Amino acid sequence: MTMIPSPETLVKVESISHFYGESDSKTQVLFDNNLSVGAGEITIMTGPSGSGKTTLLTLIGGLREVQAGALTVLGTPLTGISRKDQQLLRRRIGFIFQLHNLFESLTAIENVLMATRIAGVRDEVGRAQGIEVLKRLGLGHRIDYKPRALSGGQRQRVAIARALVNRPKLILADEPTAALDKASGRDVVDYLKELTTECSSAVIMVTHDHRVLDTADRVVNMIDGRIVSNTLVKQAIEICEFLRRIELFIRFSPTELGAIADQMTVRYYKQGDPLIQQNDIGEEFFILGSGEVDVLIDQGSGPGRVSTLGAGSAFGERALLTGERRAASIIASQDCKAYVLSKTNFDAAVKGSPDFRTQLQRMYLSR
Ligand SMILES: Nc1ncnc2c1ncn2[C@@H]1O[C@H](COP(=O)(O)OP(=O)(O)O)[C@@H](O)[C@H]1O
Ligand SMILES: [Mg+2]
Repeated sequence: MTMIPSPETLVKVESISHFYGESDSKTQVLFDNNLSVGAGEITIMTGPSGSGKTTLLTLIGGLREVQAGALTVLGTPLTGISRKDQQLLRRRIGFIFQLHNLFESLTAIENVLMATRIAGVRDEVGRAQGIEVLKRLGLGHRIDYKPRALSGGQRQRVAIARALVNRPKLILADEPTAALDKASGRDVVDYLKELTTECSSAVIMVTHDHRVLDTADRVVNMIDGRIVSNTLVKQAIEICEFLRRIELFIRFSPTELGAIADQMTVRYYKQGDPLIQQNDIGEEFFILGSGEVDVLIDQGSGPGRVSTLGAGSAFGERALLTGERRAASIIASQDCKAYVLSKTNFDAAVKGSPDFRTQLQRMYLSR
């Protein structure tokens, strides 16, 4: 099966483990972590203090040497990377960490200009960009102030402006809104959101700020050095919206639907690709997320189209429920995105529903 590529992967974490200390005092703080972050995605990392969030974030930023596992960031593999390449990579990343080292002798805009100069931008251009970002972050009236004349939250926002002024493709932020009041926290998050949409940047942000959680595309939870959950929130909500309109799942609670959504994977198809082939054994259940598919039945004289299905349509459950072979072929008539549930997970989901038999009977009676 050919698939159109999913959004470009900007960060790939594979089996990453990490240790601090030497010999006797050597302690493992990260255990076999895996994570992929796509362009345009805001990932929020949560978890108790000491669970390894900052360590993972600094590894991704090339600020720490990879000890075990593999990391690819903005297309660059980090294992054995040269100092020069590491430096080049770091320049393409916007870092927002709590320790913001502003130059005390420079004004807010001059601090921001440090970043545009490193990126080779002329000062006239850099100044205009810097002022725009400072204004966006509510510092329009503090452009020529030196750090000592600014509040903690204002200094933090200058540091954020400096990290974002070059519109980096990847932004790593550790509690970026912790020191900020409600309004400026919102400004920062709105600006991050804008960068992800306009520049297809990816943001990985450690935060416990509930006001920020609703911007997340993905929420990753870490406990004791392990990623224990990784949910595409918006996608999960979309799947639940689709599922609850399907007769089979109509009585399911949000929790039950959420559990099913978690088990569904996204698959992309190009126009002409088959999702289901007539006469095959049923292995998967589908919900169409976007695009259109044709339903084709071959009764011996070649396939004939019987219908077209659009976003939100579900198909493939019948062969799973009955064990019959696929009764029709489903072919992508446009590029499409489908949510796919394996037979095992489908069976588990429907068996878990108390009135599933009634549902099933109703479904077949209505056909
Ligand atoms: N530089 C360091 N040297 C030794 N141990 C460290 C260092 N940094 C962090 N740790 C330990 O590693 C674990 C993970 O820390 P950290 O990544 O900072 O977690 P989090 O950001 O989730 O609070 C903690 O047990 C912490 O004490
Ligand atoms: Mg931390």
